[in-house]
Amino acid sequence: MTHLSVNLNKIGLLRNSRGRDFPNMVQIAKQTLEQGVFGITIHPRPDQRHATYQDVRDLKALLTQYPDRELNVEGFPSDEFLNIVLETQPHQCTLVPDDPNQLTSDHGWNLNRDRDALIPVINKLQAAGIRVSLFMDPDPEAIALVKDTGAERIELYTEAYANAWPTTEKDAVLAQYMEAAQTAVNHGLAVNAGHDLDLDNVAELCASGLITEVSIGHALTVEALQMGWNQAISAYLTRLA
Ligand code: PXP
Repeated sequence: MTHLSVNLNKIGLLRNSRGRDFPNMVQIAKQTLEQGVFGITIHPRPDQRHATYQDVRDLKALLTQYPDRELNVEGFPSDEFLNIVLETQPHQCTLVPDDPNQLTSDHGWNLNRDRDALIPVINKLQAAGIRVSLFMDPDPEAIALVKDTGAERIELYTEAYANAWPTTEKDAVLAQYMEAAQTAVNHGLAVNAGHDLDLDNVAELCASGLITEVSIGHALTVEALQMGWNQAISAYLTRLA
């Protein structure tokens, strides 16, 4: 079984598009956890355009009521980001090599370049009891370098898999991801996966049993709209009849 961690950034985006606290992030997180979901993920970006640093605090407070579930906070290890992670001590911190203005995460770490800068950060997070995962491309050579950083996990960046899924390239790309995941496991690392996963493509990625956790936000939000839109319309039509 693979754990699901629901990424709530799109809830933050929707909320921030209006002045009110609606939808309320904690309420949606609670509803999600009550469905039996293992984890909640947020990725506060420097401009806090979707998830905010206050959301990290609020979600950590909620998660204390669910001791068998986890909060995963993702982001670039800026001072500001590290301060909020060290203050709130989520179960897991996924470090992502994002540029501050990036629309969304689009590449994994280059450890040949960034390893020396990352090691003290990883040590600090782990000293605070936080498990560290590194966002990585599905490249076995790059993944082989993770163990030396001290990180316990990787998160495989799955956009290439999601793009290939409806094409004839799917089997070759899936094989590449499985080789990457197996490399991580051989090095004693657990494997998370995320980005552009959806109801169609997620099962095949996880069928190998190599993936410990997936984090899913964008597609899950769209699918929730697709599955729930008609019910909401019907409810309005009933009210207005
Ligand atoms: N992993 C990382 C590092 C991300 O930045 C994101 C998007 O915030 C995700 C996973 C989840 O991707 P998606 O929203 O496409 O499910």
